[in-house]
Amino acid sequence: TDQQYDMIKNSIISVPDYPKPGILFRDVTGLLETPLAYAASIELLVSHYRDKGITKVVGTEARGFLFGAPVALALGVAFVPVRKPGKLPRETLSESYDLEYGSDRLEIHTASINPSDKVLVVDDLLATGGTIGATVKLIRRLGGEVHDAAFVINLADLGGEALLNTMEVTSYSLLVFP
Ligand code: HPA
Repeated sequence: TDQQYDMIKNSIISVPDYPKPGILFRDVTGLLETPLAYAASIELLVSHYRDKGITKVVGTEARGFLFGAPVALALGVAFVPVRKPGKLPRETLSESYDLEYGSDRLEIHTASINPSDKVLVVDDLLATGGTIGATVKLIRRLGGEVHDAAFVINLADLGGEALLNTMEVTSYSLLVFP
């Protein structure tokens, strides 16, 4: 409902000049500290994806866990974490992605996705799309189908949706900020 979207929007704190001058940082910790808004964000995502045949939810370290895990629980499907290098104990696949300065890697357990999976990727916020792009590649290398990528916030000016479009990934965001 409109009231749920308003509650979510009002709980997100905009912090000027973080992490650098000129950046207006959208801080989701305010949402996590507002139980009704946090619950509304999960409920809106779950109602959008219920009865879509999703078999697994993949969330990216760290803030993707905060939204992906509750969505997976409510849908009654597995939650699969994508993590920074060296954190997952079993056999992994690894994919690098570009940062503003340099690059980093993300890993997934090889056994966690298989070709029968229809996967929903969840993260708190879509910016340039680098981490989500690497996550989609990991899922596809294991034969999984990426059904959609879901976000609480899309920072529309940063080009993440366009990057996902080039990868033929559709996305859904609860809120769009410039
Ligand atoms: N908030 C949180 N994460 C981000 C942002 C932001 O505004 N921009 C890029 N990553």
